[in-house]
Amino acid sequence: MSTRWPTLIEDGNGVLILDQTRLPHEAVMLRLDSLEDAANAICVMQVRGAPLIGATAAYGVALGLATDASDARLGQVIDTLAATRPTAVNLHWALARMRRVLERSELAIRREAAWKEARAVATEDKAANAAIGRHGLALLQAAHRGDRPINVMTHCNAGRLATVEHGTAIAPIYAAHAAGIAVHVWVSETRPRNQGLLTAWELREAGVPHTLIADNAAGLLMMQGKVDLVIVGADRIAANGDTANKVGTYLKALAARAHGVPFYVAAPLSTIDFACPSGAGIPIEERAAQEFGAAVADFGTAVANPAFDVTPAALISGIISERGVAAAGALGQWQA
Ligand code: MRU
Repeated sequence: MSTRWPTLIEDGNGVLILDQTRLPHEAVMLRLDSLEDAANAICVMQVRGAPLIGATAAYGVALGLATDASDARLGQVIDTLAATRPTAVNLHWALARMRRVLERSELAIRREAAWKEARAVATEDKAANAAIGRHGLALLQAAHRGDRPINVMTHCNAGRLATVEHGTAIAPIYAAHAAGIAVHVWVSETRPRNQGLLTAWELREAGVPHTLIADNAAGLLMMQGKVDLVIVGADRIAANGDTANKVGTYLKALAARAHGVPFYVAAPLSTIDFACPSGAGIPIEERAAQEFGAAVADFGTAVANPAFDVTPAALISGIISERGVAAAGALGQWQA
C-alpha cells in the first residue's frame, strides 16, 4: 500500500498532518505547532476518524506542554482537547492515558515523556490496525464465492485516513488486496460530509477496485445479492457491543439483517468503552447546518445533523479488533 501521504508524522517540535478538509481534491500536509493548532485540527476535521483523533490529541498534549509542563497546564491542555469532539472515545482514551503517564512523570522530564507517550499511542495504533487486517482477512476469505471478487460494502471512512496507518474497516481489504485476492468495495458516499470520497481517494491510491454509491443505494445492492459482507468502523463501542459509528451505519445494519448479509464492525480496543454499559450512554455529536451546504444553510429551515448513530449489538455479526473476532455481546473477554 502506498504511504505517499502519511496521516500524521512528527516533524521536529511539531507534527505534520494530511489536511483532510482539502481531500480528495488536493493533498496538502499541514504543520501543527501548538495546542491550539491540534485542537482546531480535530474540531474542524482536518484530522478525523476515531483512532487518528486519539493520536492527534496525544500529540496535542505534547505540543501544549512546550513551555509549561506544570500540573495546572497539563489539566488545562487535557480539558481543551477533551472539548473538541464528543463521540469518538479514542480521544478520551488517549487523553486519560497521557494524564496517567504524565502525572507520574517528574516535571523536568514531563515534556519529553509526553512526546514519548504520544509516539507510543501512534505506533500502537499502527500495530493494532495491522492485526485487525489479519483477523478480518480470514472473514473475507470465508465470504469468497466462486471466482467473482469479494464485494465488501463500507460506510464513512474507516481506512488509513481515519487512523495513523492501515485503517480499521479497510485494513482487511488492504490485506486481501496485498494477498492477491480479488476484492471490490462499495463505498457509501456518507452525507453530509462525504467521507466516502476519502475512502475512494485512498482506495484509488492503493489500487483497490471500488465503486462510489449514494447512501440510499445500499439497500438495493444488498437486495440484489451484490454485497457479500459489510464492514464498518466505530467511534465508540459500548460494553454490550452497541456501536456508535457515522450516521447511516444503523440503516445499513438493518438492510444487511433483512438480506442475510454479514455485518462486521472493525475497531481497535481503544474504541471500546467498557465504562459505558450500552449505546444509550454514548454521546452523539450534533454538527452545524453548514455541513448540508450553503444552499440548505441559507434556506433557513430547521436542520438536525446528528453525526453518528448507534447500531444495536444484535445486528452485528462480529467485532474485529487486534485481539481477533468476537461476538458483539462477548466483548468482556477483551477487558483488561
Ligand atoms: O466524523 P468523522 O469523520 O471523524 O467520523 C469518524 C469516522 O471516521 C467514522 O465514523 C468511522 O467509520 C469510524 S473511525 C475509524
